[in-house]
Amino acid sequence: MAPIAVDTPKLGLARPLKPESSRTKAVMYRTVDPSPVAVKTDNIYVTFEDGSVVIDAMGGAAVSILGFGNQTVIQAVKDEMDRCGYIYAGFYSNSASERLASFLIDHSEGDFAGVNFVGGGSECIESCLKLAKQYWWEKGNTTKRRFIGRKMSYHGNTIAALSVGWHPIKRLPFASLVNEDMFSWVSAAHYVHDGQPGESEADYATRLADELDAEIRRLGPETVAAFVFEPMVATSIGAALPPKTYFTKIKAVCDKHDVLLVCDEIMCGMWRTGKMFTYWRIGEGVKPDLVATAKALGGGYVPIAAVFASPKIMDAIHNGSGIWNNGFTYTSFGVSSAGALAVQKILVEGNYTDKIYALEKQIGATLRRELAGLDDFVADIRGLGLMWAVEVKAPGQKDFKPRLGARVQQRALELGITVLGMAGVREDGDGDIAMICPPAICTEEQMDTICTILAQAVKDVRAEVGAEGLAEVGAA
Ligand SMILES: Cc1ncc(COP(=O)(O)O)c(C=O)c1O
Repeated sequence: MAPIAVDTPKLGLARPLKPESSRTKAVMYRTVDPSPVAVKTDNIYVTFEDGSVVIDAMGGAAVSILGFGNQTVIQAVKDEMDRCGYIYAGFYSNSASERLASFLIDHSEGDFAGVNFVGGGSECIESCLKLAKQYWWEKGNTTKRRFIGRKMSYHGNTIAALSVGWHPIKRLPFASLVNEDMFSWVSAAHYVHDGQPGESEADYATRLADELDAEIRRLGPETVAAFVFEPMVATSIGAALPPKTYFTKIKAVCDKHDVLLVCDEIMCGMWRTGKMFTYWRIGEGVKPDLVATAKALGGGYVPIAAVFASPKIMDAIHNGSGIWNNGFTYTSFGVSSAGALAVQKILVEGNYTDKIYALEKQIGATLRRELAGLDDFVADIRGLGLMWAVEVKAPGQKDFKPRLGARVQQRALELGITVLGMAGVREDGDGDIAMICPPAICTEEQMDTICTILAQAVKDVRAEVGAEGLAEVGAA
């Protein structure tokens, strides 16, 4: 391993030790490897039971937008717990959820008329699919039942959410559970990966819109309920934006065939990129029919997700059956709503748009400066707001064990920050990324530390790959 250029002890960080820890086998996690047990959080730092500390540069899973320990949010959660406990939404509403819904709708610039609160992102996507289906049913159309998603996308782990998404690794071993009559997929929309030589971004967007049009016609427009996509693709490609003119062109196709537009902003929404919704920044004025949000909505203080429904959808329900035929035990849980309202008020009233735009500039500039000249290993640096990815490459990278993304993640952790390493962000299984989604409360100095360490981890893995002779770095 190449020498460590970042002096982690000076930064007050220490690497988590291999845990001789209190971790039991009783809690089932994604990995069977024992990982350190966190015992304390504060600001942007996580402390483990061996005393080591890391910066959570990933904000958990792009969740902790205000970092840890915000006393206003904590107090709001405690107060609501004292004031009004669990109320079953099948019987009554509750004042905290009423306040949160009013606040969100008031700040949605007329795009939405209703909001439905559920527990997490996957539930939220399931609810969007059902609401899209119910919209057509309310209109007397019972044939529209199919959903078109996009390749290299992730919408959650429940079966329908997994089905409308498409990612070879995430689907294993569940691919056979997907009902291929109900779900189909068009190409991912990422110019860096899939634009053809000589093709402009606009031409590429036209090609993608033509493909969607052809897919709807193949299935029969009378059977297609909705097109579902991530305006900014989260972990499946890594902070990936669509080509210019994409929104306008796919919206025209959806309108032509009476197909609803559903945006999954679970990871990129609720101020992650500086605005309440990412489509407000990159959506070319297009208004979706339904938007799924979660993560930064509750900021990690409470589990909550929200379906935003446009006036068109709400009118169809109100003028139709009047009943939204979907609910969960924890729908509209007041304590979660109170926490989310506190988070959202801080983001709205605290001038976070400007702050996030400034941090966005800093992240882009720092990563590009620190990784300049490494084009033999750094395939792309991309991002918006507080969601960024460094894509790395090496010849034969698919066969690397561990994969490059995992190596950067591990190295970054050794240097004191949590980043997310992902493998297979290109359809052919190539492509590795390291992602950060840092909290919006980061100071300039903290952000500098995060970006410098991430860049150092990338450089160290590049050196390691060269030294191992697995491939000749630079031959790509
Ligand atoms: C874009 C996107 N959609 C849906 C989900 C699923 O959310 P959850 O894990 O809360 O079910 C995620 C989770 O990472 C996501 O990134």
